Amino acid sequence: MSSIRSLKEHVGETVTLNAWLTDKSGKGKIQFLKLRDGTGFVQATVFKGDVTEEIFEAAKRLTQEQAVSITGEVRADERAPGGVELSVRDLSPISENHGEYAITPKEHGIEFLMDQRHLWLRHRRPWAVMRVRDCVQRAIVDFFHGEGFVRFDAPFFTPNAAEGTTELFEIDLFGEDKAYLSQTGQLHAEAGAFAFGKVYTFGPTFRAEKSKTRRHLLEFWMVEPEVAPSNHAQNMDLQERFVSFLVRRALAECQAELELLGRDVSKLAGAAEGNYPRVTYTDALEIIRKHIDDRDLPPNVQDDVQPVEWGDDLGAPHETILGHHFDRPVMIERYPAAIKAFYMQPDPQDPRVALCDDMIAPEGYGEIIGGSERIHDYDLLKSRIEHEGLPLEAFDWYLDLRRTGSVPHAGFGMGLERVIAWITGIDHIREAIPFPRMLTRMKP
Ligand code: 4AD
Ligand code: MG
Repeated sequence: MSSIRSLKEHVGETVTLNAWLTDKSGKGKIQFLKLRDGTGFVQATVFKGDVTEEIFEAAKRLTQEQAVSITGEVRADERAPGGVELSVRDLSPISENHGEYAITPKEHGIEFLMDQRHLWLRHRRPWAVMRVRDCVQRAIVDFFHGEGFVRFDAPFFTPNAAEGTTELFEIDLFGEDKAYLSQTGQLHAEAGAFAFGKVYTFGPTFRAEKSKTRRHLLEFWMVEPEVAPSNHAQNMDLQERFVSFLVRRALAECQAELELLGRDVSKLAGAAEGNYPRVTYTDALEIIRKHIDDRDLPPNVQDDVQPVEWGDDLGAPHETILGHHFDRPVMIERYPAAIKAFYMQPDPQDPRVALCDDMIAPEGYGEIIGGSERIHDYDLLKSRIEHEGLPLEAFDWYLDLRRTGSVPHAGFGMGLERVIAWITGIDHIREAIPFPRMLTRMKP
């Protein structure tokens, strides 16, 4: 049995495929069958003169999404996507003819397509995005394996609120202690780093995001490396090696998918290369201010965008301006400690800021990574937990890590769907995961 993806290696040969019909056209003595088999898409042509009367009639009766076993000769065709076509010799349906299929071959609105996500996944665009996702997931595992990391799974039920208490999904644990769905695997990864030196977690992450944006999901996948000992500068080096590796891998292995998506891959060249600029938060505010003063704004930023006052967080438009300014991923470092998580190590030169960074992707995709050096001193960490009003008893185990052998250590979290949206060039994160979970969407 052949696959569509391998057809170009079999030009001139006769092959048999199992496939589904995505569309059909033709009249008189010819039928064009558009086929997919999960590995790709191809057109098959049925000439009345080439096949028996029964086969030609069977081809005419095929309906959208019906499954068919098809035998044909592979012909090279420059104009065809994938460079090949099939000349059909034999075919027989292998599923019933059910008639109606919801996603007819015309234009449909995104909400309709999202309602039909269970079926829409069969179509070209979702198919291409999901294949890129698969490729990047494999690249993530390969990268960390190559760098000597141990994959270390954090629990999904957690007693700890690490990234702020407003975005927590609380779980009823039979009326006993409180538990939450994990917002981050980081705290548990820190325990792993002290055990294994270099670890990474990679799994679903949950945030009760009440805002509807192009960048937020309630459930997303995060990969979180953690290294002990390590520091802020080494952490940024790792981020740059990591992201440039992923982009290079996607460009090398997903050419067909990116082409199908119409992605302008020249826009990813800088990201593939590395050399990501590192800019302090304070300097970034000046860059943003200058763009606003000069009215030099990317098209997707509103004219009434305001500069950021020192101490305030960057909004999506500000990240878009920075992405536009640098035209490759940029690491914004040393944010005010007050707007960042409690566990971040303060900068010894200026304790108002934290030894942290966010990596901002270009083209309006915004923050793809958040990371920092962690507080390694017991007393300082304890006072930060108290200052945030977090329950000490839930963090006793985390503090315990600082009692023995504690060293400066660092790590970061990368949101998989943000990176997939950026690499594939789609405009909403909901298409970067098979079944998105959002305020407005729990089905299918
Ligand atoms: O910046 P965040 O909140 O960082 C942490 O959770 C750290 N504990 C990570 C660490 O240091 N180990 O989240 C990290 C990344 C963001 O940069 C973004 O890419 C992604 O997770 N992210 C989301 N992606 C989709 N939907 C959401 N609601 C997201 N929230 C964060
Ligand atoms: Mg963040």
